[in-house]
Amino acid sequence: MTNGRFITLEGGEGTGKSTQARRLAARLRALGHDVVETREPGGSPGAEAVRHVLLSGAAEPLGPVAEALLFAAARADHVDTLIRPALAAGKIVICDRFIDSTRVYQGAVGQVESSLLDALEEMAAGDTRPDLTLILDVPPETGLARAAGRGMGDPDRFEKEGVAYHASVREAFLARAAGAPGRCVVVDATPDADVVAAAIAGIVASRLGLAVQAAAS
Ligand SMILES: Nc1ncnc2c1ncn2[C@@H]1O[C@H](COP(=O)(O)OP(=O)(O)OP(=O)(O)O)[C@@H](O)[C@H]1O
Ligand SMILES: [Mg+2]
Repeated sequence: MTNGRFITLEGGEGTGKSTQARRLAARLRALGHDVVETREPGGSPGAEAVRHVLLSGAAEPLGPVAEALLFAAARADHVDTLIRPALAAGKIVICDRFIDSTRVYQGAVGQVESSLLDALEEMAAGDTRPDLTLILDVPPETGLARAAGRGMGDPDRFEKEGVAYHASVREAFLARAAGAPGRCVVVDATPDADVVAAAIAGIVASRLGLAVQAAAS
């Protein structure tokens, strides 16, 4: 039985997913909610080991299907050991990237067949699906500039791609949102982070019926 709430943040590189995941978690915690913050790929010890293989680029020569299998293996461990138990305990789980990133990067961009991704999603996540997905949207140039501005060493496997790639990633996320309007909300992530955080708080309040307005983030 799932009685918690599962919120995912999605979008291209540098759109502000990690920033907004932290802020939303802080808001909800300040109101007394029990919140688990996590991320993909990774989020559990087994999945974090696979994260390193994926983001270092070590799996890239194996091709998008092999990458999709590794993402699914990581997700299965993450869902089994962290997400599902937290939801069963009534917690709010906030996850930085989840199934929509797979559909965008391995599916729309990597051209892995959707029937294979359907099977992997079912295997890895089962019926554990987000209640709400916030798709953070900025022009690709903005996302690239923000990601570069972080100054956290060399770009990873996905960050080193060019503007055209990031534009196709953006379009694929918007298409995901259009295909699942009951679950997904597109958030304009161009304004200041405080403005984006307030917009997200409003969406969470209205979509999930959670009180999020009273606290500062
Ligand atoms: N609304 C905003 N306006 C300006 N800068 C922002 C905004 N949100 C985040 N930033 C900055 O942009 C950079 C990228 O933000 P963040 O790491 O949250 O993005 P991300 O979507 O998690 O990126 P990645 O996909 O690479 O993990 C950070 O330096 C962050 O401080
Ligand atoms: Mg991030």
